[in-house]
Amino acid sequence: MLILRTIPELRAWRSSLSPSLSLGFVPTMGALHAGHLKLVEECRRACDAVVVSIFVNPLQFGPNEDLARYPRPFEKDASLCEAAGVDAIFAPEADAFYAKDHATYVDVEGLDRHLCGAARPGHFRGVCTVVLKLFHLVRPRRAYFGRKDIQQFLILRKMAADLALDIDLIGVDTVRETARGAEGLALSSRNAYLSEEQRGAATALYRGLARARDAHRAGERDAGILKSLIRAEIGASPLARVDYVEIVAESDLRPVEEVPAVMAVAVFYGTTRLIDNVAV
Ligand code: PAJ
Repeated sequence: MLILRTIPELRAWRSSLSPSLSLGFVPTMGALHAGHLKLVEECRRACDAVVVSIFVNPLQFGPNEDLARYPRPFEKDASLCEAAGVDAIFAPEADAFYAKDHATYVDVEGLDRHLCGAARPGHFRGVCTVVLKLFHLVRPRRAYFGRKDIQQFLILRKMAADLALDIDLIGVDTVRETARGAEGLALSSRNAYLSEEQRGAATALYRGLARARDAHRAGERDAGILKSLIRAEIGASPLARVDYVEIVAESDLRPVEEVPAVMAVAVFYGTTRLIDNVAV
C-alpha cells in the first residue's frame, strides 16, 4: 500500500495507472472505524483499485467546532487500510493542500439550507470544495459515501449532477454499534468524545428513529406524531440537547407532513453533536 503525502505524488501515481482501470475512492477524515471500512469493502468489491483519502479538512469546520481536537491516529488508520486491501492512501498536510490565498469554493444552493446546513453555516461549502478538489486529483470512476451523513451525500450527488462529473456516487447504509450498552448507535469518529454515560444515552437516537419507523410500518402517517415519538425517546435522558428532529423529503430536504421521507436527528451530548437518520 502506498502512502501519498503530496499532490505531485498523487498525480504521478494516478498517471501511472492504466486508463482502463476502474478506480474507486473513499474520502475520509481518518479515525477510521467499521463504518469507513464498510465503504472500503464495497469499493474493493466493485473497483480494480481503491484510494482512501485521510484529510481533516479545515474548510468544513466552524470557528467553534472541533478541528483542533479531531482525532488523528494515522498509524492505526494506515494499518486498517492495509488490512482492508487499500492500494493507496492520500494524506496531505493542510498547508500543502490549500494555498494561503485559496479563494475558490463550491456552493450547492438550496439543499444546504435545511437540517445540518442551518446549524453549521459554511460546512457543506467546505465539504463540496474539498471533495471536488479530491475528485479532480484522484479521478475515480466511483466514490463511496455513508448514508449516515445523508445530507452530505445528497448535496455531493447534486454537485456531481450539476457539474456533469463522470463519477458514480454510491451511498452505503449506516454501520451501527453492536457492543452491549451502545447497541444501535451509529458509528462515528466523534463517538470517541463521549463519556460512558453519554454513550449509553446516545443510543436513544436510533431507538427513537426505529420506534418511529415501526409506527410508520404499523400505519402511522402523521409526521408530527412520528417526530414526537422520536423526541420522547431522546428527551428521556437529561444529557440530551436536541438540535433538530425533522422529517424531510429525500429530493429537496424540505420538511414534509407525509412520508415517504427521511427522518433525521441531530443531538448534543455535552459539546459533542451526533446525527443519525432512517428512511421510511
Ligand atoms: P468522515 O466523517 O471521516 O466520513 C467519511 C465517510 O464515512 C463519509 O462518507 C461518511 O458518511 C461515512 N461514514 C461515517 N460513519 C459511517 C457509518 N457509521 N456507517 C457508514 N458510513 C459512515 O464525511 C466526511 O468524513 C467528510 O465530510 C468528507 C466527505 C471526507 C469530506 O471532508
